[in-house]
Amino acid sequence: MTALLAPRIPMLLLKLAALALVAALALQPILVGQHFGGQPYALQLHSAVGEGAAWLALGQGLLAGLCWYRGALRPSAALVFLLIFVLVGLQLHVGYVRTLSLHIPLGTGLLAGSLVTTLWLWRWPALCAQPAQE
Ligand code: HEM
Repeated sequence: MTALLAPRIPMLLLKLAALALVAALALQPILVGQHFGGQPYALQLHSAVGEGAAWLALGQGLLAGLCWYRGALRPSAALVFLLIFVLVGLQLHVGYVRTLSLHIPLGTGLLAGSLVTTLWLWRWPALCAQPAQE
């Protein structure tokens, strides 16, 4: 149990969750394009992938909280992952109620933001990792 809570493992899981989330978000405009192109199941798939993205964002937020608690993530970075979860929840809601004037820009922003946070974790960890204590 203690080994599971060591910062290395939640940090690896956080990196994997971030990759999966950005992949799911990147699928969304493609699926909507297929829906408008007349593919009958594309919108159903768009909402299913959206719900999967919400679970991934929740997992990502919880893992970020755990990494912060274990001293591996800056508090500001953990808050960004929490904000992504809240915004993905809002995105799901505005998708179902078809408020497209918010849904489309928010979806684009979420994809861009998730790409940046994934790059933080994989390429520039110093930007989000908690500096080691002296
Ligand atoms: C850039 C990204 C996205 C674009 C351009 C986009 C676009 C759209 C459009 C145009 C619709 C309405 C389709 C119609 O009324 O015929 C829609 C519906 C929807 N979208 Fe998105 N979306 C994006 C990302 C997302 C994401 C990230 C989520 C979830 C987290 C999501 C969840 C939904 C849901 C749940 C619906 C309603 C589907 C239904 O009624 O079955 N979308 N989206």
